[in-house]
Amino acid sequence: MEIAGKVAVITGAGSGIGRSLAVRFAANGVRAVICTDLNAAGATETALAIGASASAEALDVADERAIEALVARVEQRFGGIDIFVSNAGYGGTVGLESPTSEWQQMMNVHTWSHLAAARAVIPGMISRGGGYLLNTSSAAGLLSLFDTGGGYAVSKHAAVALAEWLSINYLDQGIGVSVLCPQAVRTNALNYMNAPNQQVDFEQVAGDGILEPDYVADLCIEAIAEGRFMVLPHEEVGIYFQRKAENYGRWLSGMRRMRSRLRAVPSNR
Ligand SMILES: NC(=O)c1ccc[n+]([C@@H]2O[C@H](COP(=O)([O-])OP(=O)(O)OC[C@H]3O[C@@H](n4cnc5c(N)ncnc54)[C@H](O)[C@@H]3O)[C@@H](O)[C@H]2O)c1
Repeated sequence: MEIAGKVAVITGAGSGIGRSLAVRFAANGVRAVICTDLNAAGATETALAIGASASAEALDVADERAIEALVARVEQRFGGIDIFVSNAGYGGTVGLESPTSEWQQMMNVHTWSHLAAARAVIPGMISRGGGYLLNTSSAAGLLSLFDTGGGYAVSKHAAVALAEWLSINYLDQGIGVSVLCPQAVRTNALNYMNAPNQQVDFEQVAGDGILEPDYVADLCIEAIAEGRFMVLPHEEVGIYFQRKAENYGRWLSGMRRMRSRLRAVPSNR
């Protein structure tokens, strides 16, 4: 899809990848960029940095009704939504000992919000001849994580599965879908991983490099232009994913070995 002249809603646009997407969308001629975030001040800051083509809205993506209401408001104001970017997310530590509610909140933010957005926007998009969904997952949605990354990895896998299902079933009605699966990107999200009892030195752990959010945003714009499903800013992730498919047992052994190695690395913080 050509993004110039389109109307786009972005969740999690108050910082990081979402903010870069909003700014780069506007720079590439998007007519209206609706920047939404749980952090209303962050969304406003993004919109102010863009100027007249942007507006800001507070939105908690864990609240399905709030997503529906936002979509209705934007459709009313602009006559439709062409691109919906489900990007909001958070890190955090969710493992076996965590209450189910914490696993559920991961699912609410990282997966069910994508479903709510798709449900709310797809009928209108189809009636206007098409539209595009860009959903942010993670390399963890293809390859998993260690220890208390459990809730994150599971919810991001579900986000990939949902995006696949949407792409399989709605492309013939004009709905393009891309899913973004990066490893480390230099945003506030990296700080979440540093829970008091689980300090991580990212320069050491992020073996495939920490990318800048503007670079990631530009790759997403390319993928939307080409209608490409998978967006892998770290190309290595595609290779690891292939290895996993080739031999699951070997891949699991390798992941266990990597976990032991990382646990042995002393933190320098
Ligand atoms: N930075 C990375 O290394 C990395 C890697 C893989 C995937 N991701 C994913 O990229 C997406 C963007 O994260 P980022 O790296 O830009 O981090 P970020 O923390 O800079 O931005 C995330 C934004 O999402 C917002 N948010 C969180 N919960 C929300 C909710 N319930 N409703 C609405 N907004 C909410 C936050 O307020 C924040 O502004 C996330 O889905 C994250 O999981 C990030």
